[in-house]
Amino acid sequence: MKSIGLIGCGKMGQAILKGLGDGTVIVSRRNQAELKRICEESNAKAGTNAEAAACDIVFLCVKPQQYAHVLPEIAPYVRKDALFIYLAPGFTVETMRSKLNLAQDANIVHLMPNTPCAVGAGVLAYAAPASFTGDEEATFVKLLSPLGALFRVEEKDMNAVVGVSGSSPAYFYMMIDALAMAGVRAGLSRQAAQNMAAQTMKGCAEMLLRSGKHPGMLRDEVMSPGGTTAEAVYVLEKEGFAGTLMEAVDRCVKKSAGMG
Ligand SMILES: NC(=O)c1ccc[n+]([C@@H]2O[C@H](COP(=O)([O-])OP(=O)(O)OC[C@H]3O[C@@H](n4cnc5c(N)ncnc54)[C@H](OP(=O)(O)O)[C@@H]3O)[C@@H](O)[C@H]2O)c1
Repeated sequence: MKSIGLIGCGKMGQAILKGLGDGTVIVSRRNQAELKRICEESNAKAGTNAEAAACDIVFLCVKPQQYAHVLPEIAPYVRKDALFIYLAPGFTVETMRSKLNLAQDANIVHLMPNTPCAVGAGVLAYAAPASFTGDEEATFVKLLSPLGALFRVEEKDMNAVVGVSGSSPAYFYMMIDALAMAGVRAGLSRQAAQNMAAQTMKGCAEMLLRSGKHPGMLRDEVMSPGGTTAEAVYVLEKEGFAGTLMEAVDRCVKKSAGMG
């Protein structure tokens, strides 16, 4: 059985840890009280960054701002044949390869998950060298499938992924919150409005994925001529709903690109 190390165990690290199931994982972070709590709640074993880095499969889950400090620390321990998975926006596989002193064909995977991984409904986009195929890729996909849907993308598209799926849970939560506030304004209880909005978002996503229809077509199915929905859609379009979202994602993508 392959050993797994997880360096940095905050929001994403804990989401990944949950999805990894029963196998023992060596986890490291600086806050020892938090590390102890995480290990007690899971099957994980507390270790040092060096111990986690020396495993067969390594997840680097510290913030990108920590890379300058953590990469030189772990580089001597990362094995040449390890599967090394990192999560930071803006850092290319090539940059990581050189910072870790690994060979050209090393199995380094740039993974961009999102927080719904914590409930097995995440999106996990990944970029990897062309040599990462066959059994190695199959092992990786099998390991992470319990966390959500996997998408292999080109390295050049990873910043776009950050804008569309890595950061987008925040936009969806903002929309649910806004709908809940609007519901309260119209007389519903906060809890009822929030649950209705969340369930509607879940149902729409399910319907879109199952039908394969264009979202505009599904919108038109709700929008009867001269009806209530048409009034709401008119205001959203007039106030620049799509343009605002596209502008926000553009800013997110640019921020990601500047992080490496
Ligand atoms: N959160 C998201 O929605 C999301 C989505 C997609 C991708 N990501 C990516 O996932 C990565 C982790 O993000 P996050 O949101 O999980 O951050 P986070 O909650 O702040 O977790 C970072 C973890 O790193 C640990 N850490 C910091 N310095 C360390 C060091 N020198 N040695 C060992 N551990 C150290 C921190 O614990 P201590 O302070 O105890 O050391 C903490 O457990 C980032 O690259 C981020 O870009 C996050």
